[in-house]
Amino acid sequence: MVKPDGVQRGLIGEVITRIEKVGLKIIAMKMFKVSMEQAEKHYAIHKEKPFYKGLLEYITCNPVVAMVVEGKDAVKITRKLVGATNPAEAEPGSIRGDNALEIGRNIIHAGDSPENAITEFMIYFTEEEMSSYKKIDADWLYE
Ligand code: RTP
Ligand code: MG
Repeated sequence: MVKPDGVQRGLIGEVITRIEKVGLKIIAMKMFKVSMEQAEKHYAIHKEKPFYKGLLEYITCNPVVAMVVEGKDAVKITRKLVGATNPAEAEPGSIRGDNALEIGRNIIHAGDSPENAITEFMIYFTEEEMSSYKKIDADWLYE
């Protein structure tokens, strides 16, 4: 998910390009404003954290662009592209490392396990919104 700061800062294309370039397949994508109800579900695991309230305000304040991506090791690969939570610790070359300064404005979210990714995309997408298709580069991405 390109968070509100990523959208405002014109980084939608940058994020999509990196996902496409690495070979992952986008099977759903949309822009919308996250509702407070969706945000509470999404960040339920952080409910007791001191940054929870600010996190909900941040994620609901402006539109986001959410995507469902598919591919081998999709979670691992995506997390590597995204970089460490705190941009100050994110490797140069990663999305956060190259495009952000602060943990509370780190421009992108990505699921941290296949189970959590499924729970999360079910908050934002219906099954009908996900496309099942073969991409022409598949034979060249996979051995
Ligand atoms: P995300 O869930 O957004 O992909 O980020 P993450 O896994 O790398 O980090 P996580 O620990 O799940 O934290 C979720 C988001 O909460 C905000 N945060 N702020 N101020 C703080 O100390 C703090 N810590 C976390 C960040 O926006 C982080 O991405
Ligand atoms: Mg997380």
